[in-house]
Amino acid sequence: MFSRRMRLVFIILGIVFVLFSCAQGTFAKTKITILMEPSAGGGWKELEKRFEKANPDIDFVIIEGPSATNIREDMYATSFMAKESTYDLIYMDLIWVPKFAAAGWIIPLDDRFPPAKQKEFLPGDIMGSKYAGKIYRVPVQSDAGMLYYRKDLLAKGGLSVPETWDDLVKCSLALQNPPNLWGFVWQGKQYEGLICDFLEVVWGAGGDLLTEDNQVVIDQPPAVDALQWMVDLIHKFKVSPPGVTTYQEEESRHAFQEGKAIFLRNWPYVWTLSNKDDSPIKGKIGITPMVHRPGPEYKSAATQGGWGLGISAFSKNKEAAWKFIEFATSYEGQKLLHFMDVIIPTRHALFKDQDILKESPHYPDLYKVQLGARPRPMHPRYGAISDALQIHVSAALVKRETPLQALKAAAAEIRDILAR
Ligand code: GLC
Repeated sequence: MFSRRMRLVFIILGIVFVLFSCAQGTFAKTKITILMEPSAGGGWKELEKRFEKANPDIDFVIIEGPSATNIREDMYATSFMAKESTYDLIYMDLIWVPKFAAAGWIIPLDDRFPPAKQKEFLPGDIMGSKYAGKIYRVPVQSDAGMLYYRKDLLAKGGLSVPETWDDLVKCSLALQNPPNLWGFVWQGKQYEGLICDFLEVVWGAGGDLLTEDNQVVIDQPPAVDALQWMVDLIHKFKVSPPGVTTYQEEESRHAFQEGKAIFLRNWPYVWTLSNKDDSPIKGKIGITPMVHRPGPEYKSAATQGGWGLGISAFSKNKEAAWKFIEFATSYEGQKLLHFMDVIIPTRHALFKDQDILKESPHYPDLYKVQLGARPRPMHPRYGAISDALQIHVSAALVKRETPLQALKAAAAEIRDILAR
């Protein structure tokens, strides 16, 4: 064993270490970092405060990124490719999951988040958290596309809530007064949101992007007709402003909320914001499923969206990261985020929460829309597929390509991507 002198040396070294740590203030905290969207109402900051209070040994750091979701995806991917541990926690759109999981950049959470716990969450959000049979994300925020309308304006015109493409155009033409009041605003910019809107119209015409066995069908007549209708909204019927091709979610919400549009396609968060006390359209809006092609064989469709938390494979603090995930995705965590940042919860139970129902009486209807929402293709190369589609759908919207040319070109590129 050690000699007496050696023991003395160890004891002295120990004392020096303790004194040094104390001199630094405290023992070093475990730091965990996340890249997030810009804060909507300070909910995540509040969560940070509460989490750190409950876990004084953890320092939770939020880095606020840009609002364009694909840029945040690139920021995460760049750091993963360099195998950096910059981000411990990954706040992920469901469409990123296959890519990040297939690359081995995020870790499976099956041990920590087993099927019995998964059952407490909406099925679409769980499906969007899985890749190759494993689960990589705990859902925080659910999303599904829907149509908002001005109840007061429809009532004044004696018009009923539109169900089909034609209904929406007819109501718009009857009520609009551009440029002060447009018929229909949506997300027409070249980015992921455009694909969410486009797919809802394609599905509503009986078409699709890929079949179940990954055949590309986006150049087939239902999709071409769907894109033609979207082009016509701007250029033929003139019920959507030409500027709609620069709109993301927020630009279209502002137009609607300021009273400048009768209809809006957007995610559920708009309902709460448009009903705030300072909103000029408070109490004047309704929600309904997105319109579909006329005909008994066609049905409305909603794109499934949503966000959740995963853990980086390069994180050195995976246990602390998991603690935060449990905290944020708990009943109380999601309730706080709902009230402060208008997130739509992913836990079934929160759709029956009395405080939420009091503030959001439309939640039973929203719950049904959420349960019926459809996923975008769950493919590791979905990002590239979507990019190709975005470019050509955009070109059609500004009339640089016809809908048929656009979708033939997109389909050819997507076939190449799938063959790689
Ligand atoms: C919302 C959805 C997300 C989608 C994005 C597109 O954030 O939750 O799934 O990709 O909008 O803009």
